[in-house]
Amino acid sequence: MQLKQIFDGIYSDGRRIYTENSVKGKKVYGERLLSAKGKEFREWNPFRSKLGAGIKKGIKSPIKKGNNVLYLGAAEGTTISHISDIIGEKGVIVGIDISARVMHKLVELSKERKNLIPYLEDAGKVDETKKELQEVVFDFLFQDISQKNQTEIFLNNAKTFLKKGNPAMISIKARSISQKSAKQILNEEKNKLGKEFFVKHAVFLDPFQKEHLLVLCEKK
Ligand SMILES: C[S@@+](CC[C@H](N)C(=O)[O-])C[C@H]1O[C@@H](n2cnc3c(N)ncnc32)[C@H](O)[C@@H]1O
Repeated sequence: MQLKQIFDGIYSDGRRIYTENSVKGKKVYGERLLSAKGKEFREWNPFRSKLGAGIKKGIKSPIKKGNNVLYLGAAEGTTISHISDIIGEKGVIVGIDISARVMHKLVELSKERKNLIPYLEDAGKVDETKKELQEVVFDFLFQDISQKNQTEIFLNNAKTFLKKGNPAMISIKARSISQKSAKQILNEEKNKLGKEFFVKHAVFLDPFQKEHLLVLCEKK
């Protein structure tokens, strides 16, 4: 099978997308493994990952090898494991999650993936996370948190951790915000991003995720 690199560390066979597995032989969430040219690749399931869905829907990944990434809403590590593959051993990804239950799985994952740092905290408490992370310069911010104030959390983190010109992405879940029409909510939230960001590209994630918008922005 022919795999073509479509973005840094992301490959496609024309239908499905993959990252090169940095922990050979190990799956993270039951994904398919594939060997090609002496390397091993992990299929990236867009039904399980908003970033994977966004790439399938045409959003360009700004993530580069060696990047430092701040990931809010890391959960059990599905998407973060693919970013860990992309950034490689010279990069670092800090995965914040509020839930002790999912953090357990993320800690296990970080034992194999040395570039992954799990961090149990409320991503909304920027004054707390700032104390721990003030030394790190982040190249990219990603957020996937289904909370009513998800956009405000993203804006506060961007203000604190991201430099002018750097990229960020937020997955916005309409139903966590209100019961108004999804299109209306998602447009209102996208407009709020204008406070800190230039909005570069936004895609609805259907049919992979219902009533979600993934927005790629650049810090003003
Ligand atoms: C939809 S899941 C994320 C899935 C994950 N991004 C992936 O693709 O593998 C949302 C996560 O956000 C976490 N979360 C919700 N509110 C949070 C907050 N204020 N701070 C940090 N994490 C939060 C939840 O515990 C949950 O694990």
